[in-house]
Amino acid sequence: MLITLEGIDGSGKTTVWKQLQEELSSDEFVFTREPTTSKYGELLRENLASDTENRFTELFLFMADHAHHVNNTIKPAINNDKVVICDRYIDSRCAYQGHTLDSDLPNPTKFVYELHNGWSVFPELTIFLDVNVNTSLSRLDTSEKFETENKLASIKENYEEIATMDVDRFSIVNGEENRKKVSNNVKKKILERIEE
Ligand code: TMP
Repeated sequence: MLITLEGIDGSGKTTVWKQLQEELSSDEFVFTREPTTSKYGELLRENLASDTENRFTELFLFMADHAHHVNNTIKPAINNDKVVICDRYIDSRCAYQGHTLDSDLPNPTKFVYELHNGWSVFPELTIFLDVNVNTSLSRLDTSEKFETENKLASIKENYEEIATMDVDRFSIVNGEENRKKVSNNVKKKILERIEE
């Protein structure tokens, strides 16, 4: 089973993912994230840091990292009956590169989503940590690439569009509440879905 955590930068998703890692530490769970630390992940981190022009290059670096992640981590874990909890996954690409490629394509979010069809593994549950853009900005060091208000608002809109297209998969958690409460709410949803 594959469960993903999604949200804009500063939504608190990585903090929740780390908390879950401490609390759900049995062999049943595998914790992973995108971008990964593979050589493909490293390559794209360099690209993210240094290059804002090569938007398609960036998309396909994220895709290469994802392909490597699916083959080397996601599929083997699922084949071994593990529950995989992944911090960022396909929807991050749809939301972020959907934003970056906005002026290049008529429907970039759909384009990116469809690039995954037929070979990738889609999650059974995606928890979206919903925060206001202003909350997210107040939690971030604003020197980073995606951290301006307009960009975050556009990325959040893309997430909302994907969530509306896939209501059965998405579960929205209020990320404005205190850290402990958010993490407990996420854990409850995960355990309920496993139970089902
Ligand atoms: P992180 O802050 O969760 O480590 O993610 C690094 C940045 O990469 C973050 O701004 C989101 C962005 N990102 C994409 O643009 N596309 C993707 O497919 C993924 C996984 C992350």
